[in-house]
Amino acid sequence: MNISFKKLHPTFAAEVSSIDLREINDEVTLSHLRKAMSEYGVLVFKAQQLSLQDQLDFAKRLDGVLHTKTSNSVLSKNRFGNDALTDISNVAQDGEIMAADDRRRMNNISNRIWHTDASFENPPGRYSMLCARTIPSVRADTEFADMRTAYDFLDDQMKVTIENLHVHHSIVYSRHTMGFDFSLEERAKLPGANHPLVRTVENSSKKALYLASHADHVVEWPIPEGRLLLRDLIEHATKPQFVYSHEWTVGDLVIWDNRTTMHRGRPFDDKTHKRELTRVTTLDIPRH
Ligand code: OGA
Ligand code: MN
Repeated sequence: MNISFKKLHPTFAAEVSSIDLREINDEVTLSHLRKAMSEYGVLVFKAQQLSLQDQLDFAKRLDGVLHTKTSNSVLSKNRFGNDALTDISNVAQDGEIMAADDRRRMNNISNRIWHTDASFENPPGRYSMLCARTIPSVRADTEFADMRTAYDFLDDQMKVTIENLHVHHSIVYSRHTMGFDFSLEERAKLPGANHPLVRTVENSSKKALYLASHADHVVEWPIPEGRLLLRDLIEHATKPQFVYSHEWTVGDLVIWDNRTTMHRGRPFDDKTHKRELTRVTTLDIPRH
């Protein structure tokens, strides 16, 4: 199939020419899309008509194993009855906007700080595929930061300093920084994970900073020094020059590589406007 890519930002992110992802199941096209993910980090597919099942099926075809141990799954039953489908919405079981003090809202609000999905798991998240189902009349964009270009722009001394460091990622930590605390029982299900701070992905030799709000401390360093380093790096990596902002239209499916990008949702009046997206994230398990 003839697929073309239109760049959305000078260094990463592309819109894919019109294709219906429900029909993509040949290995040649799927592998072409995986290579494009390694190159661009973010791919935007317009005008999709994916049912929830179509979204799950396509995620499995593209990238194998789905992430199910999400923080939402620890908090409550999901309205779709499937923990592989993350409900990125401000809507409760009954389809109405959540109460302002709903614990799930408090948890979801942390999607508005720079992060990468499921970095607190081992294996961590690889691709996230977010499908827009209800979009408010006001802007409620998702921003993406290019962690490979951010790495390139570090000075040489910093590159040497961070080369072999590891970071402990914990969602208990990141939520706590936002004033949200999990119970002891919930925490036991979210122990966190260690990952290299600098990494590469298949089909690309470029190094990426692997950072997130979940980045709790640098394993090899005392906690205060490590936290300072992580804050400096996140501040650097999210400068406007490294950021693409996606304005949603219903039917958009955006896929990002959690290993080469960070993202955050932008604030909007979520007590007035409904916003409903569904996300499927795959696990970073070697492909055969
Ligand atoms: C996500 C996420 C941000 C948004 O789906 O993982 O962080 O804008 N979403 O909804
Ligand atoms: Mn996210």
